[in-house]
Amino acid sequence: MSYEKEKEIAITATLSAWKLCQKVRQNIPIAMEKIDKSPVTVADYGSQAIICKALAEVFPNDPVVGEEDATELQTPEMAENLAKITEYVQEIIPDATSEQIINWINQGNGKVEKRFWTLDPIDGTKGFLRQDQYAIALALIEDGEVKVGVMGCPAYPVENHQPGALFVAVRGQGATMIIVATGEEIPIQVVPENDMENLRFVGSIEASHGDIERQDAVAKAVGIIAPAVKMDSQAKYGAVASGKAALYLRLPSPKTPNYRENIWDHAAGAIVVEEAGGRVSDMFGKPLDFASNPKMLDNRGIIVSNGIIHDTVLGVLNQ
Ligand code: AMP
Ligand code: MG
Ligand code: NA
Repeated sequence: MSYEKEKEIAITATLSAWKLCQKVRQNIPIAMEKIDKSPVTVADYGSQAIICKALAEVFPNDPVVGEEDATELQTPEMAENLAKITEYVQEIIPDATSEQIINWINQGNGKVEKRFWTLDPIDGTKGFLRQDQYAIALALIEDGEVKVGVMGCPAYPVENHQPGALFVAVRGQGATMIIVATGEEIPIQVVPENDMENLRFVGSIEASHGDIERQDAVAKAVGIIAPAVKMDSQAKYGAVASGKAALYLRLPSPKTPNYRENIWDHAAGAIVVEEAGGRVSDMFGKPLDFASNPKMLDNRGIIVSNGIIHDTVLGVLNQ
């Protein structure tokens, strides 16, 4: 299958959600003493509503496994937020009502099936609030395999242009990066063997999302001398896919050893890296399980690499 239609709809839907997220973010006060979660609430519900609506119009039979659910949004305490969400969504879909928006968000309550989409309407909440990296991540999964992945990264640095990159991949067709400022689409590839300059590794900014000490030790053991580049969200997959880093390490935090990763936090990024020539597995080398559950119950930790160094990394981790 060529997935031409799926790719096109995923791109337009992600770009609409991107617009909403950026509008919301413009209105976040620069210095907030205590981080107010309401901007992210407004943006991630709004983003999920827009994307679910766009998918349902063209693929009414496809379930969507999204991160958000509108139950809480229907409570009286959230009335003000719902009104705000409606205003933002109406900038994109002028006649949208609050009731419709609730329904669109709840379309994201789908189940893992033979064919379904998975969506993180805003991945990297903390980065979003910090005016840093975040991603809108959408992927189509069929027969347990990610077939299409689109990752919108509105703050992603692009040489000689305004920030903003859209990473796109279709199984068997390679990966590209669209420079959103110009619309230019360029094929991307992972760091090649002899590119010492880009032999760096990426990890979360949030210390509690990984095992920083162990990650640093593993990177060192495989010959990466530069310190970790820290970045929020699935944008880290974009960095590996576009050859800006050779490795992304996400080892379980000693504080949350039983944490299980969500499919929407990895599906879009994983296909982009694989189609750019890289490799993705858990810390034991097991493929990520996108076929069974919204949580990857049988996987621990995530290793993303340019492929070349993957077995060496697994060797260090499991010796
Ligand atoms: P990042 O921006 O890469 O740090 O990751 C953001 C994602 O981390 C969110 O989408 C959460 O689903 C996920 N997350 C939350 N708690 C943990 C944890 N204890 N370990 C790993 N990931 C987590
Ligand atoms: Mg997320
Ligand atoms: Na999220």
